Amino acid sequence: MILQRNNLPNIDQVSEEMSHMLGDYNASEFRQFFVYYLQCQAGAKEFSTKLENLDSEFEMLDNHNPIHHMETRMKSPQSLLRKLTKKGYDFTFDNIKNNIFDIAGIRVITNYLEDINTVEKALTKQSDVTLIKRKDYISHPKPSGYRSLHLVVSVPVFRADGPVSTPVEIQLRTVGMDMWASLEHKLRYKTNVDKKKVEKYGDQLKDYSTELNQIETNMQEIFNNLQHK
Ligand code: GTP
Ligand code: MG
Repeated sequence: MILQRNNLPNIDQVSEEMSHMLGDYNASEFRQFFVYYLQCQAGAKEFSTKLENLDSEFEMLDNHNPIHHMETRMKSPQSLLRKLTKKGYDFTFDNIKNNIFDIAGIRVITNYLEDINTVEKALTKQSDVTLIKRKDYISHPKPSGYRSLHLVVSVPVFRADGPVSTPVEIQLRTVGMDMWASLEHKLRYKTNVDKKKVEKYGDQLKDYSTELNQIETNMQEIFNNLQHK
């Protein structure tokens, strides 16, 4: 099942947003950006299909779906601008292309811990897939307690004039990690509560992440025993 948040770029809408944000924005830069944005979306579709195909294959051969569900999203122009500014770059097409690799993002939520590794291996060994960046926040959780495996992978997208290598960010996490991350995110950023108040609960939230990890490790063991592995 793919849940898709379709931040599809409507050229008039994006154009208006751009001019609000950037004033007199160079038209050819804008066109390049727009074409690249669509290319990134096509890249995400390529990866979604690859992931769905792998999931079906595992279901058929192992009677087990590694993937619980997937979410895809396109980064909005506002959030792209915010990220570029945070990294200290001007809003130019080259800066976007060379520094932002998560214009298209896919979140793969797996059933069990070991499924993350299974999906990663099966995907990255495909001959048209290149691994560009890998951050393992499962072996090395963030100080907050955040766990996930972040990959930037590229795939050729066939445009009218030929193939172009296209980056997509894939975040892989279990249902437990996803539950923790989405609630923690809401608690931290989506409430109107004073940040200092939220900080008081930081250690507690981190402990819950560890507890969830323990539960998922135990449930993996039950699953493996039942599969007679
Ligand atoms: P750039 O994208 O290049 O900036 O680096 P990155 O993708 O490696 O950044 P990072 O690894 O920090 O991942 C950013 C994303 O991970 C965020 O958009 C969140 O989805 C998620 N994330 C990172 N840290 C936390 C955290 O402490 N709590 C939650 N809930 N999510 C987090
Ligand atoms: Mg990122």
